Amino acid sequence: MQILVLNGPNLNLLGSREPAVYGAQTLAQIDAELRQMAGARGAVLDSFQSNHEGALIDRVHAARDDGTRFIIINPGAFTHTSVALRDALAGVAIPFIEVHLSNVHRREPFRHHSYFSDLAEGVIVGLGAAGYRLALTHLLDGGIKPAR
Ligand code: DQA
Repeated sequence: MQILVLNGPNLNLLGSREPAVYGAQTLAQIDAELRQMAGARGAVLDSFQSNHEGALIDRVHAARDDGTRFIIINPGAFTHTSVALRDALAGVAIPFIEVHLSNVHRREPFRHHSYFSDLAEGVIVGLGAAGYRLALTHLLDGGIKPAR
């Protein structure tokens, strides 16, 4: 099983970026844990972070042909703005789980709306980096049916 983890803008700063909100773990540490968890269960995990909307869209398009079965995505601030990234995920029709480190619902009102949640198989917010691990565990346990 092949799983793609996508992270949007500013998530490359994890570890030093507002640690009270986003935690102390770096993205490299989170990715390494996820890769190890997937590997231990015979799955392959690829991760990609970009600060650029088009690069994320290109990576989603590439996932259509590279064997990706599921996507775990934290779109960062694009959550609240990007119709284009939403359309990319809808276009490739790969099932995805949306993850946010912080509880966006108890933050500023502009963070309460997501362009992704109504397309997502599930949404995990506010559990920090554990959210990625819980999403991955659910996928590895066969909790979501692959589209193909
Ligand atoms: C975030 C929440 C977004 O509102 C914010 O813009 C981020 C991170 C989170 O993981 O909590 O960059 O997606």
